[in-house]
Amino acid sequence: MYSAPIWDPQQYLRHSTHRTRPFLDLLARIPELPAVTEGRSPRIADLGCGPGNVTALLADRWPHARITGYDLSPEMLEQAEKHYAGTTEGGGWLDFRPADAAHWTPDEPYDLIISNAALQWVPNHPESFPVWTQGLVPGGTLAFQVPANFTSPSHALLGELCETPQWRARLTGHGRRFVHILDAADYLTRLADLGLTVDVWETVYSQLLQGEDPVLDWVKGTALRPVLTALDGDREAVAAFLAQYRDLLRKAYPPGAHGTVFPFRRVFAVATRRQEPAREPSRDPSRRPNQGPTG
Ligand SMILES: C[S@@+](CC[C@H](N)C(=O)[O-])C[C@H]1O[C@@H](n2cnc3c(N)ncnc32)[C@H](O)[C@@H]1O
Repeated sequence: MYSAPIWDPQQYLRHSTHRTRPFLDLLARIPELPAVTEGRSPRIADLGCGPGNVTALLADRWPHARITGYDLSPEMLEQAEKHYAGTTEGGGWLDFRPADAAHWTPDEPYDLIISNAALQWVPNHPESFPVWTQGLVPGGTLAFQVPANFTSPSHALLGELCETPQWRARLTGHGRRFVHILDAADYLTRLADLGLTVDVWETVYSQLLQGEDPVLDWVKGTALRPVLTALDGDREAVAAFLAQYRDLLRKAYPPGAHGTVFPFRRVFAVATRRQEPAREPSRDPSRRPNQGPTG
């Protein structure tokens, strides 16, 4: 059994511009929420909300919404709470609560359940799609984005290094703790099988990173968390592992004239519950249809 990785919000936020863009691309494809057309305040859950900066963007689009960010990491929740919790300008509110997305179920009807760059950490998350989408109001949406670049050098090299004789005893499996995604086509089929209207797509972002060893700096915020957690307290081992991984990354991602290109593939899904079919007119003969003023 692995212990949960310790997250570092400051390290994670060092690349927040690149990390936020897929969230904005996801947000742009989410249809208007039923609450807005019905004049209600939308109810929104953000699973694996992290430091809360993208959760707060939901309040920009839906200023009346009641939004809850859920996360496993006390470090991330503390950061989110400190910077974003409270009432929003439109009269809605944002709050943050601890929860394991692997066991989270909707506690009330939701207009939107969203997750950005988190479900890759949640084994079997597709098994939760039925219960999550049953928790949506008619016309409500489940939307998520997951990284899909686990065969790229950044992640493949990490997995391989953890399995070398020097590291295997302490780190086996830790380089692939976050690999729990399906292919785009499988997500589409699973969600369509539930009777949802589905939009699934992939994007490869050609990210241009700056500075020394920028890919190492990127993964220190995410994929390296389990390794850093497992080696926690052993400074020599951390330094040795990072030096070996850094050398591999330098060869795989040499800096160019404009910076270091770090391609990053992501899969997106937006699945909307259909509106309930219109009710059939009453067949009670005593209740005649309205025949207008002359009827
Ligand atoms: C890469 S960060 C993404 C944070 C945020 N959604 C964003 O887009 O910036 C992944 C987050 O997922 C959280 N996470 C990982 N496993 C989780 C689980 N089983 N339940 C809830 N949160 C989880 C981590 O604590 C971390 O905050």
